[in-house]
Amino acid sequence: MVATQDDRFVVTPTDLMITTLTKAKAQNDMAAVGEVVRMLDGVDGMVAKYSTQPSEALRNISVQTAKTNPDWAEMEKKGTTSKLLEAEMISGQAECQLLQLLVKFGRVKKVLDIGTFTGYSSLAMAEALPEDGRVVTLERQEAAAKMAAENWASSPHVGKIESRVGEAQALLQALASQGESFDLIFLDVDKPGYFALYQTLMETGLLKVGGLLAVDNTMYKGEELSGEQLSLNGEGARALNAGLLADDRVLQVMLPLRDGLTLAFRQH
Ligand SMILES: C[S@@+](CC[C@H](N)C(=O)[O-])C[C@H]1O[C@@H](n2cnc3c(N)ncnc32)[C@H](O)[C@@H]1O
Repeated sequence: MVATQDDRFVVTPTDLMITTLTKAKAQNDMAAVGEVVRMLDGVDGMVAKYSTQPSEALRNISVQTAKTNPDWAEMEKKGTTSKLLEAEMISGQAECQLLQLLVKFGRVKKVLDIGTFTGYSSLAMAEALPEDGRVVTLERQEAAAKMAAENWASSPHVGKIESRVGEAQALLQALASQGESFDLIFLDVDKPGYFALYQTLMETGLLKVGGLLAVDNTMYKGEELSGEQLSLNGEGARALNAGLLADDRVLQVMLPLRDGLTLAFRQH
């Protein structure tokens, strides 16, 4: 239970919402509850509004992907995909804006994108890379990789992207055996596999010393915050979070951006 918040300093939007809700609860004021719902609903929109806007090609991927749910349902039914994919899996504008910024700020040349889906994050990072930069992107569903390739086809940055299809763990081993290593890695696949994939990235040196790992969905749907029983995905996110915390080779920060984005810098 949240204690009385009358004396709480309002420093952040979260403080404001907690203070408003606490008073609303004490006064049974449903209008104030509605006000907090409105504020919460506006957070992602405000982040998107004041972040640099995506290119037309990226906007096009968002628009096209939003229409794909009936196609994914059909593909799963026919066995074209081994799992049901959903349009909502697409990485958000703000996250990919952050990835673009990291590519530029870090003068990144080699990116590994684990979880291609319809190609948004791969193209976002490719756009930010220099001409001789490269994104290797991994996807287990052939149908998604094909859709991504179609989405990149008309971009002038398509030549920087190399798509590989298969299970991430096997593809990582293959990349490692080819002597590859990356400056920036974006991990955004099934959460139960997160920690094992992280260990592979570290043990094989695919994440180079001085490189940065960005992991999506580390606050998985707020499950840990809710205190309810964790789903397999929630357990997977927690295992990775705990693993990062216990690993002194990395310095990390969890950003409450959408579903949680953790940045981990490999220091040794
Ligand atoms: C959340 S989506 C990725 C979103 C993408 N980064 C974007 O920008 O829209 C996750 C994708 O990873 C794929 N995937 C999930 N687990 C995987 C695994 N173990 N190996 C390879 N691909 C996987 C899924 O098929 C799905 O297309």
